Amino acid sequence: MHKKVEVLPDLAALVQRSLELTLAQMHNAIQARGLCTIALSGGSTPKPLYEAIAAQALPWEKVHVFWGDERYVPPDSPDSNQRMARQAWLDKVEIPAENIHPMPTNAADPTDAALQYETHLKEFFQLKSGEFPALDVNLLGMGDDGHTASLFPHTAALQICDRIVTVGNKDGQPRITFTLPTINQARCTIFLVSGANKQAALAQVFASVADDYTYPARFVQPQGELWWLLDRAAGQGLQLPEE
Ligand code: 6PG
Repeated sequence: MHKKVEVLPDLAALVQRSLELTLAQMHNAIQARGLCTIALSGGSTPKPLYEAIAAQALPWEKVHVFWGDERYVPPDSPDSNQRMARQAWLDKVEIPAENIHPMPTNAADPTDAALQYETHLKEFFQLKSGEFPALDVNLLGMGDDGHTASLFPHTAALQICDRIVTVGNKDGQPRITFTLPTINQARCTIFLVSGANKQAALAQVFASVADDYTYPARFVQPQGELWWLLDRAAGQGLQLPEE
């Protein structure tokens, strides 16, 4: 694992730096494999990044967009991660509809939705049994409780290691989420973390000793590149980990 932590002066600088890194990875993937696969996170922090990507001239027919997690709500719900990304980015560019791979929150139930998405990923990435998809870019956020994707502290989803996608649980609200093995298979993982309210959890995530189940972002140890991009409000005063 190649791990890098950068503290940027403010959110605008964090967005600019994440744009640079994301675009570089997308270009490298298209050059190397003819297409790029990127998984999106939800929440508020990545929205300005999605707006910035929408302004780029990219070969959209070679870009495939997935989600790392989703709230179990209809796609037109204000809480939908898909809706946020479509409004901020995807509806503004000429990306083929079949290149957009949302999590199916219209399934019979969350378990069925997770299974459907897992099957879809297996087909798209032509996976053999037991294999996990290697996303070119996986964008992640972190909550002030140390959760990432929809892997919340002390929840069953953290223990799931034989599935690609599983059901997350946020205070009883179902979520669909990549599992840890899927997250840790990514070629490049970029965390975007902004705001002073994240400092306490970041200190635990970066601590040499702390409980992983209490701070699930600690489990993110991908085989590929790992970038932690923090704004100063989040990263100030932090003992940054060895790179
Ligand atoms: C979600 C996310 C979640 C998010 C964190 C941080 O669906 O909510 O994928 O993991 O990244 O909660 O959210 P903010 O960026 O809003 O702080």
